[in-house]
Amino acid sequence: MGKRILIVVLVLLVVIQFIRPTANTNPQPQRAALTNFYPVPAHVDAILKKACYDCHSNNTRYPWYSKVQPVAWWLQHHVDEGKRELNFDEFGGYTRRRQSKKMKEVAEQVEKGEMPLDSYTWIHKDAILTPEERSTLISWAKQMEQQAGDSTKPDTD
Ligand code: HEC
Repeated sequence: MGKRILIVVLVLLVVIQFIRPTANTNPQPQRAALTNFYPVPAHVDAILKKACYDCHSNNTRYPWYSKVQPVAWWLQHHVDEGKRELNFDEFGGYTRRRQSKKMKEVAEQVEKGEMPLDSYTWIHKDAILTPEERSTLISWAKQMEQQAGDSTKPDTD
């Protein structure tokens, strides 16, 4: 009995390896990328890239284990959800009001230590932000919130 269940589980594990989610990788230039619309100093860009872009952009750097199911599904879920809330590669397409609001949320999330997600920093140790990196990111985001909010550009939102 136990042996049979084990075989079924093993077969299922093999079968699900073939059901892969589409990878979040888009090599073409990202026209609406944040960096095309707002000043992102190199040191801020580096923080965003290492700690946020895997879930909040159109390009995730996939580790080897992301190819293994069911890990891939679990990761994909985070990426999908993260991108839905905030996609730095679509940022230029947001309304000014939304851009401003999202930057406010970036500052808040980082201040509260909610982002990057714990489940992410648990593996990506380099994404654990130092106090300096956090304050850099927070003050930059607050500046961007202002800049987006100050715009006189007509807003349809
Ligand atoms: C492992 C994936 C992952 C990483 C890395 C990550 N996020 Fe997120 N982020 C999510 C998910 C999932 C959500 C939506 C669910 C939630 O709010 O918990 C989210 C939501 C957000 C939101 C929106 C909150 C709201 O209420 O609208 C902001 C802002 C945000 N993240 C900023 C960041 C910043 C800044 C970083 C880097 C310092 C970062 N995230 C890193 C997955 C991630």
